[in-house]
Amino acid sequence: MKALVNRVSEFQKKARDAFEKVDSLDDLQVFYTQFLSKKSELNAFLKELKNLSDAEKKELGPHIQTVRLSLTEGFEQKQKELRKQALDEKLASDWIDVTKHYPFEKGAQHPVSQIQKRIEEIFTSMGFEIVDGPEVETEWHNFDALNIPSSHPARDMQDTFWIRSDQKNPHKNSVLRTHTSSVQIRKMMEDGVPVRMIVPGRVYRNEDVDTTHDATFYQVEGLLVDKGISLAHLKGTIHKMLSELFEKEVKIRFRPGYFPFVEPGLEVDIWFECTDRQGKKKSQWLEFMGAGMVHPNVLRNCGVDPSEYSGFAFGFGLTRLAMIHYGIEDIRLLFSQKKDFLSQF
Ligand code: DAH
Repeated sequence: MKALVNRVSEFQKKARDAFEKVDSLDDLQVFYTQFLSKKSELNAFLKELKNLSDAEKKELGPHIQTVRLSLTEGFEQKQKELRKQALDEKLASDWIDVTKHYPFEKGAQHPVSQIQKRIEEIFTSMGFEIVDGPEVETEWHNFDALNIPSSHPARDMQDTFWIRSDQKNPHKNSVLRTHTSSVQIRKMMEDGVPVRMIVPGRVYRNEDVDTTHDATFYQVEGLLVDKGISLAHLKGTIHKMLSELFEKEVKIRFRPGYFPFVEPGLEVDIWFECTDRQGKKKSQWLEFMGAGMVHPNVLRNCGVDPSEYSGFAFGFGLTRLAMIHYGIEDIRLLFSQKKDFLSQF
């Protein structure tokens, strides 16, 4: 028994010394095998215990267990520390700067996207929601529901690309949408009124392409329907939006205009001052957008009672606005993918 007690003490001392020297996970593994595993001396002590008397077992057994427990605790603590250290080292050495040898110049936002973002900021600050709609639209949403039946001459002004035109039912025919106004219908039918939204998006027309026309361009539609809405609300909203965008008090004027989905319908012009290439100051009224009070037929088509609700709508070309804002004279440049041109914005 005495001999075993001494050997346990010696073992304990050896283990402590070895533990002090552990410096890595590999060292720790060696330590484990030597002092804690089944092959360790400690395990042999437990086996030897069996040959001792009960009194001796009672005395020495708990002692050996205490030694084992304290070594195990030390081992586990050390293992945690060393694992964390190894992970930290790996993270620090694995880090690479993925942009360091990037061979390309940085990109930037397209001028039309920049204007769109600004418009969205201005309208959301006025409590408008940003809404999306499909670019492949039914004939009904794009035309009929907006008070443009198939016999209406306004359809000629928005000649477009038909995806399907062989059905009698306008819900079954589809077109590439000619304007974002179709989302007025979708939104009111889906969520009802009151509504306060803008719809920035891409639209399509069968156009001969020239400096100011393209077959694909971007628009922003606006719609506000509630109780007691009048033209004054429309005027205030447009004036505020444009003054914010141009960062100065802009002058606008309303002229009568015809759009089948509004009554009365308006054209909104903006007083525009710029300097031409020869350095001469130029000022003129620019036709900027269509607008008006939502036609009662449109409200009815969406299940809204026009004797209870009224609203205004407007639509303008985002592409055209970008051209005005940045003084771009040819629409084709915008989608030409020319880096020289695009990198100016
Ligand atoms: N959708 C018309 C177009 O593309 C623009 C427009 C005019 C929208 C008047 C409106 C509006 O909401 O009230 O030419």
